[in-house]
Amino acid sequence: MAFEDLKKEVTSIISNTETPVKDRLTNICEALRSSIPYYNWVGFYFANHESQTLHLETYVGTPTDHVVIPFGKGICGQVAVSNENFVVPDVAAQDNYIACSISVKSEIVVPIFKNGKNIGQIDIDSDTPDPFTKDDEFFLEWVNEQVAILL
Ligand code: SME
Repeated sequence: MAFEDLKKEVTSIISNTETPVKDRLTNICEALRSSIPYYNWVGFYFANHESQTLHLETYVGTPTDHVVIPFGKGICGQVAVSNENFVVPDVAAQDNYIACSISVKSEIVVPIFKNGKNIGQIDIDSDTPDPFTKDDEFFLEWVNEQVAILL
């Protein structure tokens, strides 16, 4: 499915105000994973700025032990500090990387901003090497803007 069609689906999920926010986030994860063949694990982490940790709010894909990640650790923790998208074409080439599953070849993490503050991120793991383009970044930035309105 093209990103433009997927945007319509995400908009529809977000507008389901009867559905609890966490369930809507899970539904977004599921819509993304089922529509984009190289999105194999999709999840949202939210930041606790006091404890300087990220917390896994919801996800779809292989269960992970990494439900709490300190700022600075792994790809996710680095994005909590850098406030910038992090595209990893080859996870094996990263020193500061937390492996969730041996099948994962690449990863993209895009921060979520609310009132200018980095409050969390969407994290996507792929079993495909080097699949992510600028279109993925633009799309995921758009998703995060919609999610920020919900929070
Ligand atoms: N690989 C991530 C950890 C989270 S899992 O991908 C679900 C990282 O290096 O931060």
